[in-house]
Amino acid sequence: MTDGEFQEYDDDLVALLEAVWGEGYMSPGGDAEVDRYLEGIDLAGQHVLDIGCGLGGIDLHLLRAHGVAKVTGIDIEDDLITRCDRLAERHGITDRVDFRRVEPGPLPFADGSFDAVTSKDSIIHIADKHALATDIFRVLQPGGWFVASDWLSGYEGEPSPEMAAYLEAEGLDFGLASADTYRAALEAAGFVDIAVVDRNSWYREEARHERDQLTGALYADLESQIGREFLQRQIDVWNTMIVVLDLGQLRPTHLRGRKPPAG
Ligand SMILES: C[S@@+](CC[C@H](N)C(=O)[O-])C[C@H]1O[C@@H](n2cnc3c(N)ncnc32)[C@H](O)[C@@H]1O
Repeated sequence: MTDGEFQEYDDDLVALLEAVWGEGYMSPGGDAEVDRYLEGIDLAGQHVLDIGCGLGGIDLHLLRAHGVAKVTGIDIEDDLITRCDRLAERHGITDRVDFRRVEPGPLPFADGSFDAVTSKDSIIHIADKHALATDIFRVLQPGGWFVASDWLSGYEGEPSPEMAAYLEAEGLDFGLASADTYRAALEAAGFVDIAVVDRNSWYREEARHERDQLTGALYADLESQIGREFLQRQIDVWNTMIVVLDLGQLRPTHLRGRKPPAG
């Protein structure tokens, strides 16, 4: 990384997230969770845009398990794009991927550039859901799906003290929105066949297991890799997150909508 470039997900955080969530993933559930949010959608032969590609694990899975023809993955962090390129080389898929660093803001693609758009747990970072939905609609081909998962809020307005404690512990640049806000943004953009599927009850259990891994089986290795202080802070993140998951204020959610077919 050069001076002035943006880095929220640094090497220590990436090491911890991959230890908990698996190679190529900075979000929970791995390939199985991707399969679940894509259930019933056929992406075979399609050119897919992945917004917030992170470490590229999802893109590898889309190409290998869903018959996707090509993935364009975008992210705002240079180091992550470098990691995606390395992953592509390791797995011999460089001819079917195009990983690019972009500036936050409008998607830098012409209208109708993609057959489908996906995103896993990344659009939480983009605060204006209406502008985002309109832009995704614009870059899709008629008939194309937007299919994603994301972290949603279970409330409108100001966060509770528990939620504020979690957001402070995370220290990430979040733009959380509720299911109603996402649905309204997708509808206003013109999407049809919209579905919003709550995953809170699944992740409440999963997050406890992850926290127990961090304090148990993963602890010694991670302590030597990233240091006790950083590891302890991340365990605090999980503990504050479990509180807001239990309160229903943090709600991992699957989202989908289709751009109406032409004619
Ligand atoms: C929690 S990570 C998820 C990464 C990946 N989708 C996964 O599930 O493993 C969120 C990602 O979104 C990226 N991101 C944040 N703001 C973005 C933006 N405006 N456009 C594209 N990516 C963004 C971050 O750099 C990070 O890689």
